[in-house]
Amino acid sequence: MSVAVRYYTRSGNTKKLADAIAARLGVEACTVDKGLLERVDVLFLGCSYYAFDVDEAVKEFILANKWNIGKIVLFGTSAMMKSAYKPVKKVADEAGVELTHQEFHCRGQFHFAHKGRPDENDMKAAADFAENVLKSLG
Ligand SMILES: Cc1cc2nc3c(=O)[nH]c(=O)nc-3n(C[C@H](O)[C@H](O)[C@H](O)COP(=O)(O)O)c2cc1C
Repeated sequence: MSVAVRYYTRSGNTKKLADAIAARLGVEACTVDKGLLERVDVLFLGCSYYAFDVDEAVKEFILANKWNIGKIVLFGTSAMMKSAYKPVKKVADEAGVELTHQEFHCRGQFHFAHKGRPDENDMKAAADFAENVLKSLG
């Protein structure tokens, strides 16, 4: 099963998860600036909330790479939200790309809140999540 990891980050929180997932799966974690050169079965896509939405760069990435995405599995961080499913689902539907309900989302440091998050436990949990998702997909 072919896999890729892409992420968007502003302060590095989501990159921590992306790196942990990519290391576990034996692939490279790249930012959404880097398009998919070939089709992948599963795209682990990392994004966070900024003013109650995901960044436009994430949406643009999905639309620009829709022919090369089998299905999207989300991971990410935020200060308060528990999932980025809703805003991403809107774009995924527009692109005609499948978005799985399996998602990893944890707290990310925001000013003085959630200091140090994601931490080692979060990173391990994200990597475990990704490995289990792939197992469940066969
Ligand atoms: C400009 C800005 C707006 C934010 N808005 C939200 C928000 O609406 N909801 C939320 O839960 N977190 C919000 N956050 C917190 C981020 O989602 C959180 O710090 C996240 O871990 C950042 O990830 P990153 O370092 O990968 O960019 C905001 C952060 C910034 C900088």
